[in-house]
Order: sequence, then structure tokens, then C-alpha cells
Amino acid sequence: MALSDRFLWGGAVAANQLEGGWNEGGKGPSVIDMMTGGSSTKMRRITDGVIEGEYYPNHEAVDFYHEYKGDIALMAEMGFKCFRTNIAWTRIFPNGDELEPNEEGLKFYDDMFDELLKYGIEPVITLSHFEMPYHLAKEYGGWINRKVIDFFVRFAVTVMERYKDKVKYWMTFNEINNQSNTSADIFGWTDSGVLFSQYENKKKAMYQAAHHEMVAGAMVVKKGHEINPDFKIGCMCSFVPFYPYSCNPDDIMTATECMHERFYFGDVQIRGHYPAFAKKEWKREGTKPEMLPGDEEILAEGKCDYLGFSYYMTNAVKADVKKDTAESLDGSSPYSIANPYVKASDWGWQIDPVGLRYALVTLYERYEIPLFIVENGFGAIDILKEDKTCDDDYRIEYLRAHISEMKKAVEIDGVDLMGYTPWGCIDLVSFTTGELKKRYGFIYVDKNDDGTGSGKRYRKKSFGWYKNVIRTNGEEL
Ligand code: BG6
Repeated sequence: MALSDRFLWGGAVAANQLEGGWNEGGKGPSVIDMMTGGSSTKMRRITDGVIEGEYYPNHEAVDFYHEYKGDIALMAEMGFKCFRTNIAWTRIFPNGDELEPNEEGLKFYDDMFDELLKYGIEPVITLSHFEMPYHLAKEYGGWINRKVIDFFVRFAVTVMERYKDKVKYWMTFNEINNQSNTSADIFGWTDSGVLFSQYENKKKAMYQAAHHEMVAGAMVVKKGHEINPDFKIGCMCSFVPFYPYSCNPDDIMTATECMHERFYFGDVQIRGHYPAFAKKEWKREGTKPEMLPGDEEILAEGKCDYLGFSYYMTNAVKADVKKDTAESLDGSSPYSIANPYVKASDWGWQIDPVGLRYALVTLYERYEIPLFIVENGFGAIDILKEDKTCDDDYRIEYLRAHISEMKKAVEIDGVDLMGYTPWGCIDLVSFTTGELKKRYGFIYVDKNDDGTGSGKRYRKKSFGWYKNVIRTNGEEL
């Protein structure tokens, strides 16, 4: 058997894309509550406050806030061993700078975790998934401001103490490395509450915000282990590996240099110090973040226990290509070029199951700590038939191919893999486009891009398929 019998099969979501109830239970507005709907050809806009007449898809999302009991029952029916979501920071500290938490928000997660545990489903909890309090972005300038470290640590310690007997698996910041694309504002906004387009030296601003986040993350890892020594606390990166387009040595070195960007954040959070290439880049480009004495020690003392990562696609790069990435939502670099050996989804995301094995091997050989695939999946347009079934065979095919490569990484390459939680196990709002029609789920939610629809849930064909995958611990695909 390839996978251990403790392998964490499950599914992943994010509070802001699922819960709705954006202003209920004392919740404050978050940065993502200021993002309008968009599409693959139309970027989501970030508005200055909530503007009447605009549509903000995350405000209602798919109403998990009220529907969570039924949704969790469906996940239990599939046999989930774990469920990855996050605690919305703004349910606990609505503005972010309060001294006392909002009890109603804490109670919501108490009840939700109890519901999961009732079925033996382990909560896997990210602390920050694209939804820092809007107030911290607006009034403090987001993570550029060092004061945000204290606010985040207060939030993290509050929830870790409160749920110390309910939650064992934690992650600090979701896809903290998205912001390395400083050309498209949605990444800096959702990672750090910063619009890098407003800064003359965008990269320097980004490294500054990221430094504060990583210092805060390291503090939280250390404090978390004091709160409960059994906690497993990971970091989380998006991993879109860069392939050299050809064996031309120039393409190889372009890919190597592009990969630096992919490793920057993991290196600090896992090895506890900045890599050599980062220091050279700061010097060369004048982008060194300001650090306080003691920061290096904090980073060294707060190394993560595991690496959670998302994997959706790879990207090929060629030395003599140079394009603008301002409108790119597919993890591409200025050197990216279509890979003739792989197909792409309707949203242009390249489908590359072998790339998942490549990702696992690359990350494991670099860091030698347990890995957790906390996102992977196929965003597609699903058709709900009249009899309320949905034949999403393309999704089954995608997941089957990826799981099969994942097993090779464990069996052949010896990767220590904790689990697999496909993204958007229940349909939810797309992060990059704000659409509902970019669906990932095993569970169909009857809701449309403009917010219309009954909100009812239906099992897709992949629901039964995934249930059997879990039942057989990945033996039957
Ligand atoms: C990751 C995020 O970027 O990919 C999720 O962690 C996101 O929040 C997922 O939803 C898929 O992206 P999208 O744009 O298809 O929703």
C-alpha cells in the first residue's frame, strides 16, 4: 500500500470564499470584501470601501455560515478524514486592532469544529487566507506596517489557545508567495492588504510586507508549540514549478532564476533564514527590507513543522521571451511560454499531473520535512442536469491522474506526505475571478455568478468516485 493508513484525505476551502455572512455575528469587513466580481478576461476590481450598486461575490458566497451542518454531513458521507478551512480574522477581531476578541465569532468556530469532530474529521486550519481586516489595510497600510505583527500574533494566540484541544494542524499564511507578482494588485492586496502599484519600488514594498509576515509567522510557530506541543504548524506556499522550455543552457538558467522566486518564502519559513540569492537580489535591485535587531533570531526559532502547498499547474520559461504579467492569474513569469506538451483548462491553467510529482520531489529534496498537498483541483464549468445530477468526468480524470502521480512520489521517490485536500470540495467563489461558474467541487451548489440561484447542494459524479478513493486509501482510482 502506497499511503499510510493515517493519510489525511479531505478537501479544502477558505472562509471568505465559502461562508458568506460577511457582516453577521459581529464580523468586520476584510480586504476581500472590497473585491468585485470578474472573469478570466476581466480583472476583479478593488474598491475603496463597499460601494452601493457594486456586486461583491464573497459577501454571500455559498452561505456555509448558515449551512455548515448539512455541508459537513456531506463531507462525512464522502469519508473525509480532514477538512481544511481558515478562521476569518474579522470574525474574531473585526477591525484587527481591538484588544478583546468577538465572542460570537469564536463561538461560531467552536460549533463548526465540534460538528467536524463529531464525524471524526480533523480540522486543518489556516490562520490567514486572503482576508485580513480591511481596517488594517486602510488605516495602517497593511503588512508594510510593523504594528500589524502584534495584531496578527494576538489573533493567532487567541484562537490557538481557544481551540487547542480541537485543532492540531495549523498553517500560517495561505499562498504567502502570490505577492511576488507585484504587477497584479490582487495578489498584494489579498496577501498583505497592500496595493503595490502605489509604491515606486514595488519589490521593496513587497519584501517589507513579507518580512513582517514571516517574522509574525515565526513568532506564532513558537508560541503555538508552547500552547500545545502536539500542534503541527506549517507554512503554505503556492507552488507553480518553472520548467525550462528546452535544454538550451540559457533556458535552464532562466528557469533556475525564476525558481528563486518560488523558493524565497519557503526557504525562510522552513530553514529559518533568508537564502543567499535573496541577499544578492536585495543588493542588486535596492530591495532589502528593513529589519530590526532580533528578527533573524525570531526567524531561526520559528521554523515550520511541515510545508503545505497548492499545486494547480506548471509554467514553461524561455530565455528570450519577455511579457507583461499584470493581467496574469496563472502564476506565470515574464519569461513564460505555452508548453506544447500539456493542455490547459478553460481558464488557461496548464494541466500537468506529472508536474505534481515533480513538485513533491523538488520540495521534499530541498526541505526534508513532511509535505501536505492542501490544494489541487480542476476549475470547470459544470452542467447540472434536469435530474440534478452532474457528470463531471473531466474532474475525475484530472484528480485520478494527479493522485496517481502523488502516489508515485511517495512510493518511488520516498516523499513524506501527510495528506491531500483537493481545492473547493464544495463549489465556492473563485479567488482570482470571483465567479461561481469556475467550479471545483464534489458538491454542486446551485448559485450563479450574479448571486442568483437556490443555494441547494447536489452530489456530482465525482462525489461517489472520491468517496471510494478515500475508502480504499487511494488504491482504487
Ligand atoms: C489558490 C487559493 O490560489 O487557488 C484559493 O489559495 C483559490 O483561495 C484557488 O481559490 C483556486 O483559484 P481560483 O482563482 O480558481 O479560485
